[in-house]
Amino acid sequence: MNRLFGISGKVAVITGAGGVLGGNIARHFVMQGVRVAALDIRQEPLDARVAELQAMGGEAIGIVGNVLEMESLRQVADKVMARWGQIDILLNIAGGNLPGATLGEEQPFHELKIEDWEKVTNLNLNGTVYPCMAFGKIMAGQRNGAIVNVSSMAAYAALTRVPGYSVAKAGISNFTQWLAVEMALKYGDGIRVNAIAPGFFIGDQNRSVLLNPDGSLTGRSLKVIAKTPMKRFGDISELNGAVQFLCSEAARFVTGIILPVDGGFSAYSGV
Ligand SMILES: NC(=O)c1ccc[n+]([C@@H]2O[C@H](COP(=O)([O-])OP(=O)(O)OC[C@H]3O[C@@H](n4cnc5c(N)ncnc54)[C@H](OP(=O)(O)O)[C@@H]3O)[C@@H](O)[C@H]2O)c1
Repeated sequence: MNRLFGISGKVAVITGAGGVLGGNIARHFVMQGVRVAALDIRQEPLDARVAELQAMGGEAIGIVGNVLEMESLRQVADKVMARWGQIDILLNIAGGNLPGATLGEEQPFHELKIEDWEKVTNLNLNGTVYPCMAFGKIMAGQRNGAIVNVSSMAAYAALTRVPGYSVAKAGISNFTQWLAVEMALKYGDGIRVNAIAPGFFIGDQNRSVLLNPDGSLTGRSLKVIAKTPMKRFGDISELNGAVQFLCSEAARFVTGIILPVDGGFSAYSGV
């Protein structure tokens, strides 16, 4: 069982590791014996994350990098290779939404803040594509590796009021399938590319949309719960098993899938 699902000894690059989801997965990975290269855009949260991972007894390094700059990513790849000589796993976690890219209840679409639309589509889509290029190049040379991207329920049916995030996540699903095929056809069956599609988890980026200041559910979150057969939000720790599976030997014939972790949201018509 351990041999099938175990990921001990592998080297993983985790983008956005200073954030909520990236931090959670980084903690889980070091607990599984993975050597973690934590990548984030700011030094301070990165230092705190690495200190936390090392305090847990994990083998971890932190490298500041920008997922939107190829040169920065190449430098990160060089540093990881210099340290460990291999990159087995890439988790593309950096991403998220911005308030200006979300329409207000009564706000017309033509008033969407273009600057924030561009930031959100760029970070979520290219911020996954560029690391796949930089670290995927090493995996191609090794003929081995597992990439896991983060799509969303918004990729299946766009969420009202959040067009930029939705279109970028739909792009991630599409790109995940494209890259899975590209890697397998050109480099064989050792490189796999998959994504998870989280359902609704309360995080810093969506807390104000899903919870009222007194902690009660907003009208929007009541709609989410109504369409979630399990009748609750997810806990981000519930993503760990899906990510680990996709990185493990147990998934060695699995590539190009988008795995929903959503309490049944994507399966439910609501009727
Ligand atoms: N939290 C949820 O409930 C939830 C649910 C479904 C899906 N997701 C997805 O999970 C992913 C992570 O979400 P999260 O809640 O963990 O977000 P988060 O806490 O904001 O973490 C994202 C991290 O990425 C960093 N980052 C931003 N731009 C970057 C860049 N150009 N290069 C490198 N790092 C950069 C952020 O730094 P700054 O803080 O400086 O921006 C932050 O540390 C996103 O794709 C999100 O859509 C989250």
